[in-house]
Amino acid sequence: MIADKCLLGLAETYGTPLYVYDGDMVLEHYRALFEYIPHPRLRIHYALKANYNPELLRLLRDAGVGLDAVSPAEVILALKLGFPAERIIFTANNLTDAEFDEVHRLGVLMNVGSLSRLEKTARRCPGSCICIRFNPDVVDGDSAMTMTGGDLTKFGILMEDLPRVLEIMKVGNLRVVGLHEHTGSGLQHTESVFRSMRNLMRLAAPENFPDLQFLDFGGGFKVPYKPDEHRVDYSAMGQEICSLFTDFEKRYGRELEIRFEPGKYMVAECGHLLTRVNTVKHNHTRVIAGCDSGFPQLIRPMLYGAYHQIDNLSNPDAPEHLYDVCGNICETGDRFAEQRSIPEIREGDLLAVRNGGAYCFSMGGIYNLRAMPPEVVVIGGRAKLVRPRVSNAALAEELLCQCGMEAK
Ligand code: LLP
Repeated sequence: MIADKCLLGLAETYGTPLYVYDGDMVLEHYRALFEYIPHPRLRIHYALKANYNPELLRLLRDAGVGLDAVSPAEVILALKLGFPAERIIFTANNLTDAEFDEVHRLGVLMNVGSLSRLEKTARRCPGSCICIRFNPDVVDGDSAMTMTGGDLTKFGILMEDLPRVLEIMKVGNLRVVGLHEHTGSGLQHTESVFRSMRNLMRLAAPENFPDLQFLDFGGGFKVPYKPDEHRVDYSAMGQEICSLFTDFEKRYGRELEIRFEPGKYMVAECGHLLTRVNTVKHNHTRVIAGCDSGFPQLIRPMLYGAYHQIDNLSNPDAPEHLYDVCGNICETGDRFAEQRSIPEIREGDLLAVRNGGAYCFSMGGIYNLRAMPPEVVVIGGRAKLVRPRVSNAALAEELLCQCGMEAK
């Protein structure tokens, strides 16, 4: 874990706002999964949409991690970083034919999540190996926006459409080597993991899918965001996962790989957004701590109402007061926290927004024309500036350049 004193030093060295990731912790989280889920054929396909910092990806590549990619550019990034194509699964949705062809040509396994795409695959690529994504019909997640099972989601093929799937497979002579489901992100109940597993395993009978090499149960492992939030007993969960899967393998009659695609579990707690307070303002009933970041740089609170713990690294032992922690963007909703109890904040104090490793930088943007913060990765106690700060002039010029216009 990176000590707060070290974070204070990094903010001095590299300025703020700044993203800092603990590379060692990412690897620890990855390795721990093999203890929690002691199945000899466990494969982890990290959901790189959570955080595609190239240095973190390089560490994971060397540790042998596979990837779950969701866009052609994610696939290309992974290949350019040296991930072998066989370690990548492509789980996009609502793909164009051109996108499908682009990724298929690269030799990456396609995970097909609609009957329409399955029919097109049978027509366009008969005889190919594919994975099929089913909707597990289990509803769970940390917000309505992150639940991917059940009737209100666009993802996966309905389990009741199995007969049609089997027909299309036959027509296209498709070899289904994997079945997939993803229930949601931040699953609140471990029971949901087991229910989705059981549902997918029920479909995976050898008479339906004789060529299976793996079952992939997606991501969604929850991590605590609030200080008093419980941590999942991953060991107990892993034992149950193993026992369910081993029973299934017996029924199926052959050894298979078991795959998971964690994103948040791998990186959420490994990241911090460091931001400095420049304005403290009293607005009748509220005290506003105005800082030098904003929602385009960490959108989860504004988009999902997500809670991110905020610590005052400069004044940790002071008495607490209630603050609205706001950013520098011209929108009222530009808040990281509302009425949050934090040790007294003074102008110049450094705040750490915790759990900034997953879906924070990767969901970022440059609204109001403010560049995304630089990113530092700490490995073995050494900090590496992976992405330097983009100057305001460079950002403006880049915009002109993209439109073929010259700066005056
Ligand atoms: N596999 C598939 C097919 C997925 O769609 C996702 C996440 C994952 C794996 C990884 O899920 P995780 O382990 O990270 O929960 N932006 C939202 C989360 C969206 C997740 C989308 N899919 C957030 O910030 O909460």
